[in-house]
Amino acid sequence: METITTATAMSAISRQAYREGKRVGFVPTMGALHPGHISLVRAAREQTDIVVASIFVNPTQFGPNEDFSKYPRTFEKDSAMLAAEKTDYIFSPSVDEMYPKDATTWVDVEGLSGKLDGRSRPGHFRGVTTVVSKLFNIVQPDLAFFGQKDAAQVAVICKMVRDLNFPVQIVVCPIVRESDGLAMSSRNAYLTPEQRKQALVLSRALKQVEKRAAQGEQAADRLIVTGTQTLAEEPSVRLDYFEIVSPDTLDPVADIKQGALVAVAAYVGTTRLIDNLLLPPR
Ligand code: PAJ
Repeated sequence: METITTATAMSAISRQAYREGKRVGFVPTMGALHPGHISLVRAAREQTDIVVASIFVNPTQFGPNEDFSKYPRTFEKDSAMLAAEKTDYIFSPSVDEMYPKDATTWVDVEGLSGKLDGRSRPGHFRGVTTVVSKLFNIVQPDLAFFGQKDAAQVAVICKMVRDLNFPVQIVVCPIVRESDGLAMSSRNAYLTPEQRKQALVLSRALKQVEKRAAQGEQAADRLIVTGTQTLAEEPSVRLDYFEIVSPDTLDPVADIKQGALVAVAAYVGTTRLIDNLLLPPR
């Protein structure tokens, strides 16, 4: 495994892979890796010849009062985890390498970028789509792997790829959870043991909705009541949103007949956590 820090060197490797007829699989991350990230690397290892994982804490997707400076940075540990999965390359550029001081070009998926997390975090998805565009241009992957954990990010990236004709296939991998149901996240590291227990209410609320849906409830508003009532059992957890939407447009749906994305975001202390559940078409 080799660590690459410049865009030029990374692109040269990808061009060489292309000349040799090898397929490049790409897993973009911000590091602080956990088994959720590793599941994407494994999928890439299975489906492609050359696996590139990027580690870049992208400043443009953090709001001014968000956790950019305190976001966990654990490069040595991440590097060992990626080596154990037979990753071929880590692409780990500096902020200056990715953003020349005079850069003024942005990629913005209008509409979708203002929904769910985009509504609570203005500018967040513009930062994500800009950095992912840049990473796609540098790494030139055949397949890129994203986690269903960030369901709104998946919708935004898929639309961007379609709207701008990026020659890449997006592969979405299921949410990896702790044994008690908590969706794995780099931000779980911020939680105290007490908050870690409180945070379980997110997955519990989704489970309740899944159960009610399995019992035959189809109306989104009633399923939302089920979810928010469960969340209210943990008063220390402050709800940001609980929505039932179309997984592609992120617009609210009236019922779940055509399938739906049940998405939740909430603050546990100052830590913002997200989780979701995909209900299949009935
Ligand atoms: P990051 O939060 O590091 O996540 C990297 C990838 O891992 C994303 O596709 C995310 O959905 C996936 N992931 C995280 N937790 C997961 C879990 N529990 N199960 C399955 N997949 C999981 O998402 C980002 O970074 C950034 O926005 C990025 C795309 C790298 C752009 O900066």
